[in-house]
Amino acid sequence: MDKLLISGGNSLKGEISIAGAKNAVLPAMAVALLTEGDSEIRNVPLLNDIKMMSHLLRIIGTKVDYRDNTLYLDTKHCSFCEAPYELVSKMRASIYVLSPLLARFGRAHVSLPGGCAIGARPIDLHLKSLQKMGVEIKIENGYINAQVDKLKGADIFFDKSSVGATITVLMAAVTAEGITNIINAAIEPEVIYIIELLQAMGANITGKSTTELVVKGVKKLKPVDTEVIADRIEAGTFMIAAAITRGDVKVINCIPHHLFSLMEKLQEAGCQLEYGPDWIHIIAAKKIRSVNITTKPYPGFPTDLQAQFLALMTVAEGTSIIEENIFPERFHHVPELNRLDASIELDDHRAIIKGVKELSSAPVMATDLRASAALVLAGLTAKGTTTLSRVYHLDRGYEKMENKLQKLGADIVRSH
Ligand code: EPZ
Repeated sequence: MDKLLISGGNSLKGEISIAGAKNAVLPAMAVALLTEGDSEIRNVPLLNDIKMMSHLLRIIGTKVDYRDNTLYLDTKHCSFCEAPYELVSKMRASIYVLSPLLARFGRAHVSLPGGCAIGARPIDLHLKSLQKMGVEIKIENGYINAQVDKLKGADIFFDKSSVGATITVLMAAVTAEGITNIINAAIEPEVIYIIELLQAMGANITGKSTTELVVKGVKKLKPVDTEVIADRIEAGTFMIAAAITRGDVKVINCIPHHLFSLMEKLQEAGCQLEYGPDWIHIIAAKKIRSVNITTKPYPGFPTDLQAQFLALMTVAEGTSIIEENIFPERFHHVPELNRLDASIELDDHRAIIKGVKELSSAPVMATDLRASAALVLAGLTAKGTTTLSRVYHLDRGYEKMENKLQKLGADIVRSH
């Protein structure tokens, strides 16, 4: 299994280009199943999660090609309405195929996702909503057996904001009979992107960017033809890498307004930031100040940047408190960071971080995607050479992160 060897102490300098957003590509691939035709998704990074979703679409009968950062999907001959446990258990986003299979074929046999490193990942909001739209659901032997003659519009109220459930209902509603009202819809940029994608395919959706969506079912949709938005979490990760190494980095091909919550917190920590239409320039503070964070649904501070920001706070001046409200167990990076001589205590869904002068290297292990990113960032500043194992977690959401960091002057190599 691959490892990363990271020798700390170099300040990152230079320009880094941001790839397409994993969490926009995955639902866009599922949206393609709604139509019979040739779809094209551009600006797609080569990530393990996208390879897994491609494998799942092939099982369903989609022809999938990937060339020059573009996915070509031929969904004319889909027929096998199955998402097996082996895949769904590895990637929760597989659940996205449930809705389009029901919309197109009236049936689906999809494994329950099971848990994952960041905690239980229920799908009750997805299933309850589909039942309200007429779907008959039976849970048998760890699988969801779902069937419906014709999806019907319904009033869907989410008692908590859910990116996945909002997208599941949107995919079910766009060709359903009648009108679907979605109340308390998630407004993450990836959800807005999917709404715009569906509208471009002919869907009738109003209320975009608000938490109240109205979807009027249409007969047919055109195939997908889209360029994916930039990955705000990759951009945020590199901004924090610049801060933790006291560097000076310009992140390009990103969408600054998706990152205002992070930019606010980095300024509070003493960094200088300026931005233009598709770039953000960050000059790190000589001394990082401790800052408190509470993760929230968009536009609040994103849970997917919590681990990375926590790594930064381990070398800040003072004590910071980070509260994780979306996935309360999302702290597997903490024991590993403490192995690098950080001083972090956990109290339920809060981490209390006492800044230390310097981290020191040690062998550490990735447990999940964003925890592994946090450990890379810590390694970039820790004295000595940090070895990070189980790097496949990192490769799920970052394409060759070590190459991008090397370009900025980091001393990091992958060993096979
Ligand atoms: C998406 O997951 C992202 N994944 C996650 O990114 C991200 O952390 C999360 O949204 C929150 O922003 C993809 O887009 C593929 P939710 P999702 O439904 O849709 C609870 C990464 O690192 N919930 O918005 O699964 C849930 O447990 C990944 O790239 C229910 O209770 O997240 C959580 O507490 C990690 N029942 C909260 O809602 C449900 O039916 C928000 O989850 C669904 C969710």
